[in-house]
Amino acid sequence: MDIFKEIRPLKAFLESSKRDSDSIGFVPTMGALHQGHLSLIQASKRENAKTICSIYINPTQFNNPDDLAKYPKTLARDIELLTDVGCDVLFCPENKEMYSVEPRLKFDFGSLERVLEGKYRPGHFSGVALVISKLFHIVSPNKAYFGQKDFQQFKIIEQLVEELKFDVSLRCMPIERESDGLAMSSRNTRLSAEQKEKATTLYKCLLLASNLIKDGHTMDSIRKKIESIFLKVDGIKLEYFELANTTNLMSLKYVADKSSTAILLIAGYVGEVRLIDNLLLTDEN
Ligand code: PAJ
Repeated sequence: MDIFKEIRPLKAFLESSKRDSDSIGFVPTMGALHQGHLSLIQASKRENAKTICSIYINPTQFNNPDDLAKYPKTLARDIELLTDVGCDVLFCPENKEMYSVEPRLKFDFGSLERVLEGKYRPGHFSGVALVISKLFHIVSPNKAYFGQKDFQQFKIIEQLVEELKFDVSLRCMPIERESDGLAMSSRNTRLSAEQKEKATTLYKCLLLASNLIKDGHTMDSIRKKIESIFLKVDGIKLEYFELANTTNLMSLKYVADKSSTAILLIAGYVGEVRLIDNLLLTDEN
């Protein structure tokens, strides 16, 4: 695997692939890689001649300085995992390379970012959009791979690509889970074994709610039930639990008809660690 820390040599290297009209698949990450990330690399490898992964802990998307300071860093192991899975190129820049000038640009995604994560993490999506714009300019991928795990992030990036006319196709890949249902996340490494067990409450609540919705319950009554479940488990706290329209993320009280797709989304704290998860409501769920 070729590893670059600087933009110029990376661009020069990618130019030759582009001259050979090889398609480039891109997987942006913040490292501390797990099977969720690797599934994106594998998807990119299936569909492109070259796959490039970036590892960069983007400071402008962290609204909580403690979360940024404690974000896990495992570069040596990440390089091993990427090599094993057959990733072709890694871009792992330092802050001075990505933010050579004080960032001034701000993005406002309107109603898409006033809800869910955007509501609880002010400025977060502006930072995500800024770093993704930079990375798309640097890499100019043909396809870029993201996880459904961060569903709202995917919607924001779709809007970004549409508005700024980035010439890239976006792919949203399914959530990889541990065998007990816990959605894989870099932040899980900050949890003790006991906390990991408690963290499965998020996915259990999504499954329970999906069944209650099928039985005709409305979100008001389901949310009360979910709140009471969280209150019974020590050391976990619910932040939000929502049913939303997958197109515009507007909150729903119930699933009106089978043709419009809906998604359940949850965020909560296990100790000091903030976790998110979601479940698309399709016929199989
Ligand atoms: P990070 O949290 O490292 O995630 C990188 C990509 O992996 C995202 O597209 C995310 O949705 C996906 N991912 C995370 N957990 C997953 C899982 N369990 N199953 C499948 N995919 C999963 O998201 C970011 O980094 C950053 O915001 C970034 C887009 C890199 C911008 O800085």
